[in-house]
Amino acid sequence: MSSTTDHALDPQTNETGTEAATAWFGNERVAEADKARRVHDVFAKVASRYDLMNDFMSGGLHRLWKSSLIDTLNPRPGMHLLDVAGGTGDIAFRFLKGAKGEGHVTILDINDHMLAVGRDRAEKQGLVGRIDWTCGDAQSLPLPDRTVDAYSIAFGIRNVTKIPLALAEAHRVLKFGGRFLCLEFCPHLAVPFFDRLYARYSDVVIPRLGGLVAKDEPSYRYLVESIRRFPAPETFAQMMRDAGFETVTHRLMSGGVCALHSGWKL
Ligand SMILES: C[S@@+](CC[C@H](N)C(=O)[O-])C[C@H]1O[C@@H](n2cnc3c(N)ncnc32)[C@H](O)[C@@H]1O
Repeated sequence: MSSTTDHALDPQTNETGTEAATAWFGNERVAEADKARRVHDVFAKVASRYDLMNDFMSGGLHRLWKSSLIDTLNPRPGMHLLDVAGGTGDIAFRFLKGAKGEGHVTILDINDHMLAVGRDRAEKQGLVGRIDWTCGDAQSLPLPDRTVDAYSIAFGIRNVTKIPLALAEAHRVLKFGGRFLCLEFCPHLAVPFFDRLYARYSDVVIPRLGGLVAKDEPSYRYLVESIRRFPAPETFAQMMRDAGFETVTHRLMSGGVCALHSGWKL
């Protein structure tokens, strides 16, 4: 028989103690600790083909979405960006180009395989010394309060076990006047006819491409499932407000395939 404390509400997830011990990994309900390990395995397996697969899956569109995040951020000399779940460095490289050599960027990612690919890419572009590389968890950032001007997370937050915890950490490390920007896929396309086409593309084509290009169909099946489990933009906006962000907005891109979420610490 479970004790009453097992059913206490978890302030981060709003779930009972019993439910809080599990999380969605794609369409599977798994133990929380298991989710982090399995997400780690996914990105360890796909790291070497990750960038190539992004181009294949999105037809290169992910480059426009990421450039749009940087345009919105409007990097200025001296700005310190923390790019969480920064993976192989796409956001950081664009930021440094935008900041005309005078910006400072920290890439934080939980997966050292993804970071290693990013470091190799940075070396080839002569950028390696201009980036701080940190292996860490979005849910417990190894940074003091109010230390960064901007926080970005691109296609990373849906992989985090407790999203409210990651949002609270983002708010904590931002300076007052700092900006939070998050790129994430929307769970469903709200365009008649294209919604079914897109669903079919996601369910059939992406996992097959994953099998062919990255030699890993299950990981790309997880990616599709994790997109469907991510909250709709309006729900995510409320989660951002709950974490303390103000002037929360989002902009749909490519007909609602993904959204750029923005919030301020004021
Ligand atoms: C889909 S990739 C995105 C990489 C990069 N931001 C991009 O847009 O190309 C997701 C990244 O999130 C990272 N990740 C997953 N859970 C994380 C966590 N709890 N904390 C930090 N990074 C995490 C993964 O290791 C992976 O590199």
